[in-house]
Amino acid sequence: MTQKIIIDTDPGQDDAVAILLALASPELEVLGLTAVAGNVPLEFTAKNARIVCELAKRPDVPVFAGCDRPMARDLVTAEHVHGKTGLDGPQMADPTMPLQDKHAVDFIIETLRNEAPGTVTLCPLGPLTNIATAFQRAPDIVERVARIVLMGGAYFEVGNITPAAEFNIYVDPEAAKVVFGAGAPITVLPLDVTHKALTTAPRVQAFRDLGTQVGLMVAAWTNFFERFDKEKYGSAGAPLHDPCVIAWLLRPDLFTGREVNVEIEVESPLTRGMTVADWWRVTDRPANALFIGDMDAEGFFDLLTERLQRLS
Ligand code: RIB
Ligand code: CA
Repeated sequence: MTQKIIIDTDPGQDDAVAILLALASPELEVLGLTAVAGNVPLEFTAKNARIVCELAKRPDVPVFAGCDRPMARDLVTAEHVHGKTGLDGPQMADPTMPLQDKHAVDFIIETLRNEAPGTVTLCPLGPLTNIATAFQRAPDIVERVARIVLMGGAYFEVGNITPAAEFNIYVDPEAAKVVFGAGAPITVLPLDVTHKALTTAPRVQAFRDLGTQVGLMVAAWTNFFERFDKEKYGSAGAPLHDPCVIAWLLRPDLFTGREVNVEIEVESPLTRGMTVADWWRVTDRPANALFIGDMDAEGFFDLLTERLQRLS
């Protein structure tokens, strides 16, 4: 039976690869993409989501624009990583498929109310603004969510946008607090695990060797965004963050983690957006998330490359 998912996203090259992986996987039914401001402003993320759908030859997938700024703060973007457009690297034609008129938050609410309870999984790949806004506007939908599988946060790996916080959580910590406190089942793919999904040269070459437009685009996106992280971390490649969310849905056996309590810092200017994960269970705070700490990186890239090959 296929899993129905909504991908909430701020493309971003790594978001783009995650979307391609989902569209290439028959186990998943992508009900829609909801764009959110994050890596780049909403006008770009809403455009980029459509570019990726057209690259996958899936103009049938509805794309909705959502929140253009965090719930309670000014927007912080990441052009320094992703470039001005968010999909810098290769030249990309503007999309021809339309943006849906409906707001992304309304799409999330209506879809969860219309689909059978427990059948729709939310896959946030950016700041949690759309998800939290939907939960606040329609609290009844929370218990209808099958699971939230999100990329965000960090514990042992600490922060990437500040010394304490990972970007997606940092941009809208109030939204993250709402989502982590809502009570829906959550799987977190934090930097602790995504930093093990490195785009090494042989892995990028495998994308290129697919000999398809998708393979060439993914290799070109990777070459662009990895320059920043390789310089920063001195690593052999850049972390391919967001596709880990989709890979966990497809092959949870490639990942390991533990059910722990995760709270979000929203008060301190120094540590805003920090995901305080009680990994060692030193408090009696109830576990509210499956926090993933490790992965089989080779198995992940084999899965990703095999699925991308299906997108001719
Ligand atoms: O910190 C990494 C996350 O921030 C990824 O989702 C990337 O796309 C950016 O949104
Ligand atoms: Ca993202």
